Amino acid sequence: MLLQIPDLLTTAQVRRARELLSDAPWHAGSTTAGSQAASAKHNQQLPRHCEAARFVSRSVVEAVERSPLLLTATLPRRLVAPQVNRYGGDWPSYGEHVDNAVRTDPETGDRVRTDISCTVFLSDPDEYDGGELLVRDSFGAHGVKLPAGHAVIYPGTSVHQVTPVTRGWRLACFFWIESLVRSAEQRRLLFDFDVALMHLREAHGDDDHTVALSGAYHNLLRMWAGH
Ligand code: NI
Repeated sequence: MLLQIPDLLTTAQVRRARELLSDAPWHAGSTTAGSQAASAKHNQQLPRHCEAARFVSRSVVEAVERSPLLLTATLPRRLVAPQVNRYGGDWPSYGEHVDNAVRTDPETGDRVRTDISCTVFLSDPDEYDGGELLVRDSFGAHGVKLPAGHAVIYPGTSVHQVTPVTRGWRLACFFWIESLVRSAEQRRLLFDFDVALMHLREAHGDDDHTVALSGAYHNLLRMWAGH
């Protein structure tokens, strides 16, 4: 499932991130890719412990915990700490690749299964040309380029790329989520169920039927959540 999460970060958070990122210690991104991905990867990343990277990472983790849409779509067990990258100049693109199935979180040492990939845009679309995230699935290739502060989630299993940036810089934050529910099909069903249920409760308030449906949702989640 490819899903946009509008306004994951606030305007103030994006503004502060951009201030810090304007003077950040960028280095080649290929050092942290798997071997197939590394040959396709021509971008720059930030060291985790610089002030800008820490601010963005912390802001994104807090935002994930506050986003009902992202939480119900991903049902996170844990995530790999968010990192920051940029594309532009001599570092314009990331060709077609698949992400490693397992990443070691450098903060905790945990090995995290990458069920879901997430990109949080930190530049607005009019600041750069190209730089589309292109995600391929069985229905074809989908291009994504969103306003700063918006996020997109897409399956960790997908082949994807960032098309060459031909003007300006594209700044983004990226991370992976290991879900409580490993099956994308089951996650999708739970997501559709929960969204419909939220609308029902908003429209009609709670009654015996919505309570019964909530019970069914949680029993499905209980049945499918596992290692
Ligand atoms: Ni990737």
